[in-house]
Amino acid sequence: MRTDIKLYLAPLRGFTDAAFRNMYWRHFGNVFDVAVTPFVTSVKGKRIKRTHLKDIWPENNSAFPLIPQILSKDADHFITLAKAMSEMGYRCINWNLGCPYSMIAKKGRGSGLLPYPEQIDAILEKICASIPCRLSVKTRLGRFSGDEIFKLMPIFNRFPLSELIIHARTGVQMYEGVPDLERFAQVSALSNHPVVYNGDITSLTSFALLANRFKTVNRWMIGRSVLANPFLPMIIKAGEDHIDAKVAKMKRFHDDLFQTYCEILYGPAHPTDRMKGFWSYFARSYKNGDKFLKKIRKTKSITQYQRVADRFFEQEAQFIE
Ligand SMILES: Cc1cc2nc3c(=O)[nH]c(=O)nc-3n(C[C@H](O)[C@H](O)[C@H](O)COP(=O)(O)O)c2cc1C
Repeated sequence: MRTDIKLYLAPLRGFTDAAFRNMYWRHFGNVFDVAVTPFVTSVKGKRIKRTHLKDIWPENNSAFPLIPQILSKDADHFITLAKAMSEMGYRCINWNLGCPYSMIAKKGRGSGLLPYPEQIDAILEKICASIPCRLSVKTRLGRFSGDEIFKLMPIFNRFPLSELIIHARTGVQMYEGVPDLERFAQVSALSNHPVVYNGDITSLTSFALLANRFKTVNRWMIGRSVLANPFLPMIIKAGEDHIDAKVAKMKRFHDDLFQTYCEILYGPAHPTDRMKGFWSYFARSYKNGDKFLKKIRKTKSITQYQRVADRFFEQEAQFIE
């Protein structure tokens, strides 16, 4: 087991919630050193309702060490939320400066703040002086251009951040194209803080190429590929893939996850809709995944969903090694 690298579970809103994190931990073990939660939006006012923080309730989160994430462009709202999180026992909070969705970015949140270094500077000035915990930042290279980050680095460097997580794309790129590794190299060389690499770690080979290229980086964040191939973090930590019976293991994980969503989400459509979302990633690891994805998306009830999934795992699934 490699102990020289730290693996981070990326926040994937709609996927890596507490139910997923706990179930993943039970089935695949303690492979993540940190999990950053999907973002919690800041709200007006001085009081945060406990239900607003349900995903990070400590009693629901005994799996991986957790860093809760905040989406906000308002320093006061951020501070109120960070204090509430800190009262729950969290020692580090992450600020989302990467969300690319235009509804959010157009309002100057997530990656929408990246073209405004002075605003980021002013927010950091206020929050770093007031929050009772450490601050980590998750950013993209920019919103419109990968050059935006060069104006931001001197600002990030002036504040006592615990780390800088860099998804090496721009906001307008969304999840398309490839991460800009050249810029990531330049930016990580400029950082005074530990840097976490994020973007398209899809296999042991792609990880090895990145690790070989960025020798000073030892923190790596993985998102979509954890869903596509839940064995990947374990394989990366082991440095090899000796895992057997992957289909049977995936079935057990899938069934337990589905069972949990049936218990916590109301109405028959909710659990199956949630699982259909997962299948758009799960399917990528199977030779016949595309065909199956179409089939599972057509299921209309919990029993039909379970029957179709059972047949896939028991008779049709061929894991891509
Ligand atoms: C469905 C989805 C939801 C996401 N939700 C969040 C989020 O809540 N906060 C965040 O910082 N990033 C979020 N991201 C971005 C990921 O954390 C990550 O930066 C991105 O997927 C690149 O990493 P990957 O190539 O390993 O997936 C999301 C991405 C996807 C595809």
